Amino acid sequence: MEFSGFIMKNFSVVILGAGVGTRMRSSLPKIMHNLSGKPLIKWVIDAVSSLNLKPDNIVVVLGYGADKVEKYLSEINIKNLKIVYQKEQLGSAHAVMQAEKVLKNYSGNILVLSGDVPLINSKTLSALIKNNDKTASSLTVLAAEGTNLFGYGRIVKKDGFLEKIVEEKDANISEKRINLINSGIYCFDKNLWKALSKVKPNNSKKEYYITDTVAILKSMGKSTSLTVTKDENEVKGINNRLELSQAEALLKDRKVKRLFESGVSIIDTSKVYISYDAKIGQDTVIYPGVFIDTSVIVGKNCILKGSSYIIDARIDDGSIISYSYINGAIIGKNVKIGPFSHIRPGSVLKDNVKVGNFSETKKAAIAKNSKVSHLSYIGDAEVGEDVNIGAGTITCNYDGINKHKTVIGSNSFVGSNVNFIAPVKVGNNALIAAGSTVTRDVPAGKLAIARARQELKRRIIK
Ligand code: UD1
Ligand code: CA
Repeated sequence: MEFSGFIMKNFSVVILGAGVGTRMRSSLPKIMHNLSGKPLIKWVIDAVSSLNLKPDNIVVVLGYGADKVEKYLSEINIKNLKIVYQKEQLGSAHAVMQAEKVLKNYSGNILVLSGDVPLINSKTLSALIKNNDKTASSLTVLAAEGTNLFGYGRIVKKDGFLEKIVEEKDANISEKRINLINSGIYCFDKNLWKALSKVKPNNSKKEYYITDTVAILKSMGKSTSLTVTKDENEVKGINNRLELSQAEALLKDRKVKRLFESGVSIIDTSKVYISYDAKIGQDTVIYPGVFIDTSVIVGKNCILKGSSYIIDARIDDGSIISYSYINGAIIGKNVKIGPFSHIRPGSVLKDNVKVGNFSETKKAAIAKNSKVSHLSYIGDAEVGEDVNIGAGTITCNYDGINKHKTVIGSNSFVGSNVNFIAPVKVGNNALIAAGSTVTRDVPAGKLAIARARQELKRRIIK
């Protein structure tokens, strides 16, 4: 159903996340498990936050591992978010009841979501809320036609209308065959609280089930209805590690499809990991073994090859990354990194820079056309344009207490195996002889040699 012309009324949100998540077999509360770079609960919050109309309140119900979730929620700082606690996990209806103290006098719609149903789409949520108003219902249940039914509540209809929801454990054989499943996502009106007060733990688990509100509202003479999503994947619940990994695969499929559509090549989709939020430009080619974690932007015509891990980085057009680890860096155009480079936080590599074999950079600004081709460590450094850094060069930036800076001017040439004892400055156009240990500043245009003179002695053979 589509109600695009319909104006949505105000709504508040309740997210259920107090459950132990026993089937995860984890010390971490289920809703804090990571899915493609963010906890399950954040996926749900993001779906709600991307609705055009913003919720008046987002009430999160916490219980098991509440301190961990609370800490996370305070870090991400969401507007209008309130936390309530469910001390004992007596069931999903009991969990929603904990939000009553916040929303008791609230007259808008109340959207109830499960913290363990992360792939929900905001368009579907908006259709659900609009349906509740349009049909003047006290409850609209979001359902899906499922192929994988096990564990889900089944939607029982009578004469084409929603009758009740039966849980897997309480369903008879014919009910188990129903392929219309409950998503665990509902839109209620203000009759929610009254309906909840009538829920009894009459089921095999002896829990207070939110799903019982369907039959209860009917008995109160209120109408209830259904919104059915065509995409069963978006209502997949995460109850164990297998389902978590399946959700990860679903997200990857979605992502890969979008990247193909936008002109990105992925040689073997089964051998890459690409975070949901990666932005990748046209004609970039991704080879097997590449892991693109969160907050990565890659430009056009780049090549990403072999066992590379990239997180929190921007890589501009035409750059080539091979067999390297990049974390917290800004990389310009036509830069070559690798094989086997480690580009660490605060590295800013400008256009045409090359960082090669077994080299490491950290908090290093390297200006255009400069090269660090072999076996070097460049940390807390500023390197000018067109500088060649010879093999084995080390910035000795740490004295055991503080970090110090090395500055190397443009057009300078650093021979192999040079140590810069920071803080130290080298001017433009300088030449540092191979094997030098540089302890004092080198003015522009000078040649510095700081190594012991070679001596020749007679070889004694015994
Ligand atoms: C629930 C639904 C089922 C639906 C499925 C969809 C019920 C009774 N069943 O089953 O119809 O098909 O979701 O994924 O609701 N929670 C609490 N406190 C509790 C119990 C649960 O906060 O005391 C929270 C959980 O953290 C979770 C949500 O409620 O986020 C659902 O609970 P869960 O135990 O996962 O229910 P399911 O068996 O998946
Ligand atoms: Ca669940």
